Amino acid sequence: MRLLITGGKGQVGRALEAEAQERGHEVFALGRDGLDLTDPGAIQRVLGEVGPDWVLNCAAATKVDHCEEDREWAMTLNAKAPGWLAEACAREGAGLLHWSTDFVFDGRGTEPLKEDAPKNPLSCYGESKALGEDAVLATDLAQVLILRTQWVYGPGGRNFPAAILARARSGQGLKVVNDQTGRPSYALDLAVSALDLLEGGARGLYHLAGGSVATWFQFAKSLLEMAGLGEVPLEACGSEAFPLPAERPQFSVLSLDKVESFLGRSMPPLERGLSDWLEREESESPKG
Ligand SMILES: NC(=O)c1ccc[n+]([C@@H]2O[C@H](COP(=O)([O-])OP(=O)(O)OC[C@H]3O[C@@H](n4cnc5c(N)ncnc54)[C@H](OP(=O)(O)O)[C@@H]3O)[C@@H](O)[C@H]2O)c1
Repeated sequence: MRLLITGGKGQVGRALEAEAQERGHEVFALGRDGLDLTDPGAIQRVLGEVGPDWVLNCAAATKVDHCEEDREWAMTLNAKAPGWLAEACAREGAGLLHWSTDFVFDGRGTEPLKEDAPKNPLSCYGESKALGEDAVLATDLAQVLILRTQWVYGPGGRNFPAAILARARSGQGLKVVNDQTGRPSYALDLAVSALDLLEGGARGLYHLAGGSVATWFQFAKSLLEMAGLGEVPLEACGSEAFPLPAERPQFSVLSLDKVESFLGRSMPPLERGLSDWLEREESESPKG
């Protein structure tokens, strides 16, 4: 297939590019300099030039707290741009795979969230992503796949394990929130399963995330132990210890029932993603 990846320099974009190339697809992975999604004219022009079978939209305003401060930026990229992309895909006869988030939920429940759970975002980021889903679904597109994911970390990305590891290696103790629960999701695992879904004919809305449920504290603890830094002081705390502009959902564990039933396998556990992530970080970090 001919695949156009937007946001191709981000964590999920890079993982999808590598996995799609490995599978022999013809891949055009564009960063913001190749396709700026705030420009509807550029979207139409680039889709016309590339003529993809599918567009994989990995671009988004992902700085959750910054979205609270710059609502227009969040709404343009996360709410309007997916609609412009969907319209261009419809005109060009392409399918659209679009990524969304657990932040569309309020996380006030205690059970894993299924695809049809009611949306009730707590933040501008969540609201803008929820509107982006609606914009894609409102377009008359023959082929759509929306994947909601959460707590993404990939090699070389701006993410939670990278921040924890940097702080631990600098000899500083750590305090990590223990009252938010989700599924850490390794970008490379997401890419494999997303392409399996696409190639396997899955259409509509799916939750896709890592196989293990953890709090941020548990995520950090597993990481430090696996990195041989188990002696670094690590303290559990509540969310109130780190007041942030955007409110986070507390229990936003995505249900994987639908996706695992389609794929016929379980999503990989945290330890597997972390060990691969650590191995790649080690091999890419400068040697002293
Ligand atoms: N990261 C998470 O924990 C998480 C959780 C749930 C859902 N998701 C969703 O998963 C998808 C992929 O996320 P990710 O983790 O790969 O995020 P990421 O690493 O932040 O990548 C997002 C990419 O979007 C690009 N971008 C920003 N503004 C753009 C513009 N105007 N035009 C084109 N591209 C632009 C960014 O480029 P620049 O670097 O140049 O700005 C960046 O490369 C997003 O839809 C996100 O909402 C992510």
